[in-house]
Amino acid sequence: MTRDHQIRAEFDINARAVVHQGDCLDFLKTIPDNSVQLIVTSPPYNIGKEYEKKLRLEHYVERQEEVIVESFRVLKDSGSICWQVGNYVDSSSIVPIDSVLFPVFSRLGMKMRNRIVWHFEHGLHCTKRFSGRYETIIWYTKSDQYVFNLDPVRVPQKYPGKKYFKGPKTGQYSCNPLGKNPGDLWTIPNVKSNHIEKTVHPCQFPVELVERLVLSLTDEGDWVLDPFLGVGSTIVAAVLHSRRGAGADVERKYLEIARKRIQEAFAGTIKLRPMDRPVYDPKAAGNRLTVAPWAAKKEAPYTPVVGRQLALLEKPIKYGADT
Ligand SMILES: C[S@@+](CC[C@H](N)C(=O)[O-])C[C@H]1O[C@@H](n2cnc3c(N)ncnc32)[C@H](O)[C@@H]1O
Repeated sequence: MTRDHQIRAEFDINARAVVHQGDCLDFLKTIPDNSVQLIVTSPPYNIGKEYEKKLRLEHYVERQEEVIVESFRVLKDSGSICWQVGNYVDSSSIVPIDSVLFPVFSRLGMKMRNRIVWHFEHGLHCTKRFSGRYETIIWYTKSDQYVFNLDPVRVPQKYPGKKYFKGPKTGQYSCNPLGKNPGDLWTIPNVKSNHIEKTVHPCQFPVELVERLVLSLTDEGDWVLDPFLGVGSTIVAAVLHSRRGAGADVERKYLEIARKRIQEAFAGTIKLRPMDRPVYDPKAAGNRLTVAPWAAKKEAPYTPVVGRQLALLEKPIKYGADT
């Protein structure tokens, strides 16, 4: 491990990675004003996970506001805050957390640039409502002069071979050869048991989700901060792309894993799901479990004669060219 790759426990503007054990508000207070380019986090959702105490919703919002106000202070004028949230759930009734935090960001004069819908295909199966299969990332900027680099996060075009068919550009390719804007609906697998990044943390977000934000909203050498760090996914994404990463968590067991993952990111040995891998499609991959056994054609042990005659009639008819 080089000195440059040492993980500090307290904020140090010259470090590459800082992992602090303790309350995020205390940690934020040690960071200078206007020093961080991007804050990405997934805070507790107040749903009684092992790492949180369920609070009355108003109290939860007050606590979040304290963290958001401090985050705003440490943010550079060109910087962004991305708050990744789901629903607060009480007796099968939901409150989208982004809706209750909207006034908090507005009071600070921040501008919302996107409300990104993060869609995934696995999760709890609800019985009294449709199962939740998305969460959101609310992206706010501190000013109108903010960093936004689209080229590093472009995705493949649907029809890259499409050309202009009229006008002065006839015959030239009509799309951007670097790819298209990824839009505000991101389908990225969530970290469940068979995901390569899965650790003991019950709610870690996938590194590829953070990578897209790091690449588009920061430049090399910038600071990326996660006040609710968990197992360090945000710092891993920052380090992978030559940014600096800092974060805090109250749970020692998560931070031990975070430090290990960050060291692996520095060493280039961390196992991650790559950003450009398409979502697994079991049908296209030929997985035989996609055919329901009860729908598959079965050989009946014995078919009465009448039945066999009917089966003959059901044989596909070959149509001629004029049909
Ligand atoms: C939704 S998880 C974040 C997981 C993270 N995005 C990852 O990929 O590992 C929220 C985290 O906030 C931590 N936490 C809760 N209250 C905190 C506080 N006051 N200060 C710092 N961390 C806190 C929890 O321990 C938990 O790991």
